[in-house]
Amino acid sequence: MFSRSTSLPSTFSLSTASEIAHGNDRAVYRHPEHAGRCIKVPRFPEKGSHQNEREKAYFEVLRRRGLSDWRYVPEYFGTLATDHGEGLVFALITDADGCVSPTMRDYRQSGDSAWFETPAFRAELQRLYRYLHDNWIVPSDINDRNVVCQRRADGSVRLWLIDGISNPDFMPLANVWPWFARQKIERRMKRFFAKLTRHGLLPEFQRDGLLRSVH
Ligand SMILES: Nc1ncnc2c1ncn2[C@@H]1O[C@H](COP(=O)(O)OP(=O)(O)O)[C@@H](O)[C@H]1O
Ligand SMILES: [Mg+2]
Repeated sequence: MFSRSTSLPSTFSLSTASEIAHGNDRAVYRHPEHAGRCIKVPRFPEKGSHQNEREKAYFEVLRRRGLSDWRYVPEYFGTLATDHGEGLVFALITDADGCVSPTMRDYRQSGDSAWFETPAFRAELQRLYRYLHDNWIVPSDINDRNVVCQRRADGSVRLWLIDGISNPDFMPLANVWPWFARQKIERRMKRFFAKLTRHGLLPEFQRDGLLRSVH
């Protein structure tokens, strides 16, 4: 006779993982088994995380759609059951020296903000916008804490949208209809660029040109 064992689903322990940062909703850990990945879990596991649920749903849509271009949004590797609740696994964005890349806000406040004055910054903003537009990926919350600046070995800086990608709509037409998604992307980028102008990072005349340049 075989004995029937009742095994519980195993959960991944984050006790040996180091926390990289946290936002209002989620804590982000470096994946202990994959240095190039991070795990996002609810900051308060008893409450769960709406952002994780929304993001999971959206990234599953991107997966089904066969998205393979992860140049401005970190690659999504699925979910992981952890002792802090369900985690989402993403590529961890690091600088050439291996340190976790700073958010736009941190980079700007570190006193090393000269890059934001350069045409390279605006060209990179345009590439981020074009990427979202071409792949019809809708940002729901794009701000300077959800974009990180990756300082690369060749001296260039890449902007990555690391959070705030989801579609909270009840009837998410933008998930199935590129035209509709692109209308949303345009509205969200307009708002983001207006914020940058208010922070003195994007002169108004350049902002209009930037918006017109992506269609
Ligand atoms: N893929 C990533 N690569 C590097 N840093 C990240 C990544 N994801 C998140 N972070 C860092 O962790 C912080 C919190 O993560 P985030 O996903 O924005 O959480 P929340 O949903 O709570 O705002 C970010 O502001 C950023 O500093
Ligand atoms: Mg965030």
